Amino acid sequence: MKLFLDTANRELIKEWVKTGLIDGITTNPSLLSKEGPNTKAVLLDICNMVPGDVSIEVVKKEPEAVYKQAHQIASLASNVVVKIPFKKEYLPVIKRLVSDGISINATLIFSVIQALLVAKLGVKYISPFIGRWDDIDIDGLTLIEEIRQMLDNYGYESELLAASIRHMIHLHHSALLGADVATIPPNIFDKLMEHPLTVQGIEKFDSDWKKLGKEDLI
Ligand code: G3P
Repeated sequence: MKLFLDTANRELIKEWVKTGLIDGITTNPSLLSKEGPNTKAVLLDICNMVPGDVSIEVVKKEPEAVYKQAHQIASLASNVVVKIPFKKEYLPVIKRLVSDGISINATLIFSVIQALLVAKLGVKYISPFIGRWDDIDIDGLTLIEEIRQMLDNYGYESELLAASIRHMIHLHHSALLGADVATIPPNIFDKLMEHPLTVQGIEKFDSDWKKLGKEDLI
């Protein structure tokens, strides 16, 4: 399973890349807006900081402008994936971009049917937003399960990217349900790093070892 970091903050990216766990980055206009007005410099830095895919979302609205902006975004670096939200008007744009050789992350996916349509167009990633379904009392993880089944039924090659992850349980079940990728906000990544029983276990081993009064093991 690939793990992406869901942030545009360069300090956090620098910190987490050191762990060796980060396979890529996902950004969106909300995340990018927190990093100040020099977005081109921010994005270029991010693309240089990680070896894997960096998803960058279009902000233009009109389909032809989205097409042109997608090309501009893709020309920033070789590891860029252009994020485009699901919209009927953008489907022909996605089709053109895929045939131009540009990698697309179809975002704001909330149904199996939306996922099916963009899979048919050959997008690289399909991003269902689990947490935002949970917010309105619908189990977002069901969407992961059903999109997985749909992709496997037809052998589509698009990768299933679990997004809008808000809790460890989202990651736990996304892994069991066969998501290819999960994008995780830094605060959730932090929580994954400590298990109380592991901490307790280390303390017990340490105190038992100290009883022997010996520093070296061998
Ligand atoms: O990857 C998508 C993510 O950034 C959205 O998360 O928590 O705003 O629904 P959230």
